[in-house]
Amino acid sequence: MPLRSALVRALAISAVVLAGLSEASTTATGAQQAAGRPSNVEMTTFPQEWAYRPGAQAPFAPGGMVASNCVLATKAGVEILQAGGNAVDAAVAVGFALAVAYPEAGNLGGGGYAVARMADGRTFALDYREVAPRASTPDMYIGANGKPTDQSLVGHRASGVPGSVAGLLALHAKSGTLTRARVMAPAIRLARDGVVVDETLKMSITQNADLIRRFAGAGLFLPGGAPPAVGARLEQSDLARTLERIADSGADGFYKGPVADAIAAQMRRGGGLITAADLAAYTPEWRDPLAGTYRGYRLLSMPPSSSGGVTVIETLNILEGDRDVPPWNSALALHRLSSAFQRAFVDRNSSMGDPAFMTMPIARMINKTYARSLRAGISDAHATPTASLKPVKAGSSETTHYCVVDRAGNAVAITTTINSLYGSGVWIPGGGFFMNSEMDDFTVQPGTPNQFGLVQGTSNAVAPGKRMLSAMAPTIVLDSAGKVWMIVGGRGGPRIITAVVQAVVNAIDYHMSLADAVGAPRIHDQAMPDVLEYEKGGVPADVVRVLEAKGWATKPGGTGSLTAIKRAERAGAGGARQRGWEGLFDPRKHGLAEGY
Ligand code: DON
Repeated sequence: MPLRSALVRALAISAVVLAGLSEASTTATGAQQAAGRPSNVEMTTFPQEWAYRPGAQAPFAPGGMVASNCVLATKAGVEILQAGGNAVDAAVAVGFALAVAYPEAGNLGGGGYAVARMADGRTFALDYREVAPRASTPDMYIGANGKPTDQSLVGHRASGVPGSVAGLLALHAKSGTLTRARVMAPAIRLARDGVVVDETLKMSITQNADLIRRFAGAGLFLPGGAPPAVGARLEQSDLARTLERIADSGADGFYKGPVADAIAAQMRRGGGLITAADLAAYTPEWRDPLAGTYRGYRLLSMPPSSSGGVTVIETLNILEGDRDVPPWNSALALHRLSSAFQRAFVDRNSSMGDPAFMTMPIARMINKTYARSLRAGISDAHATPTASLKPVKAGSSETTHYCVVDRAGNAVAITTTINSLYGSGVWIPGGGFFMNSEMDDFTVQPGTPNQFGLVQGTSNAVAPGKRMLSAMAPTIVLDSAGKVWMIVGGRGGPRIITAVVQAVVNAIDYHMSLADAVGAPRIHDQAMPDVLEYEKGGVPADVVRVLEAKGWATKPGGTGSLTAIKRAERAGAGGARQRGWEGLFDPRKHGLAEGY
């Protein structure tokens, strides 16, 4: 159903749905096929209390499109596309520009994941997640009192060996078309000439000033003890030199020589573990994208060491088992969604880790028959306590996301992170960047929640050289003809997974436009804690009451924030339809989507 008719229908039926708010209002046709896209589902308008109105228009462009959380980084990507670069060139340019202009999450001191689908049909994924330093031990974050310390999150011991530089360069070397110097030029220019501080950057530094103040980045980001004023020019000469070294010498410009020495020296000074040998040994891993299907669409997402792709696909497989699609945002729709998340997260939290260190039952986790068995355990009448759910059996058969697509249809989805905003807070003098706090994504202590409340098992325990389990889920959706249809990913730890699923379900099942699919209120369930969280104002009070009557513990909570691109058509000059792309950053956050 096209957006307009979906919304007109939505408005017409909203009174019914808002009044009914339960399975009683389900009118999906019995003819719907589990594997096909539902054609006659009830949409409802967003609740009155919700922060955003439906019907917003995402920026459209007929050529290529870049969507990121940072205006200057998006512009760097568009500059490279317009200079004749492909989506990989542009993605690499955006990655380096984020490291300069978006210090809360963009990085050289972190890691990430890329999923790409080239116009000739080739697909690849790159895992450039950080690894634990060689001197790491499983109990390194347990204090003398037997309780976890904050060292996995703050300070020198919180960092894994960074992967971002090696990752971006490997992507460029594999499929870029412009020179390394050209794709890095926008970032180097931003670092040398300075970034003009806007409200967003000032606010970000202000909100994280307590962390920044504790380490060497304070001189740059809190000059005279306070954040720079809006309009001030933030020049980063150390970072510019580091980027120039990388442009000149490739990965050796970061992992060996003066920058590596600066990292190792800073680690020694602060009691961190990363050594020059750790840095010299870092390598990103090429992986095959994890493939799944949902109602005739094909998904390509990130395999382990991220749990993102597996958990997204497992959840969608469970949902695909629904013969009917309940009205959007109804109690039944949210009940089934949360039940699916809960089961996929039980498996995720118990059974996943770095594939170099363990065998995982991935094939089973993304298998449709397994999903059907999980679906069979979901009753429409009542919630299932997480404690009664059994994890999958082995042996049976601050982060930022950005998306780029170019004129040829090459598509890249990248999520990169230093974990918390401004990472561990540790800044490398001479290098000019923040270090990550990714070690907190390991299971620091089985049974104890991490900063995202995730309770994980020993499969994700700390070990030297091991990648910590991630929830990042850069995802590309192809239509039934095999063409790129949607590119999506986000930030927010485990909330990335639930946000990506809901954007995909909104777009496929409920035929929402990109703006509505992303702007719609979301729920979150990660199995433990055993709670269905909903965004404030996003779920009407009587729907919450129906959910509670089914046995759900509910509470208002947060969600991830997404960036996304979707194939679209718009009326062009003379009324002719023009094909192109819509791009979007989540209205919950900042950013820019721009095309050409
Ligand atoms: O890899 C992960 O799952 C986390 N380190 C992601 C952190 C994140 O999304 C923070 N964003 N606000």
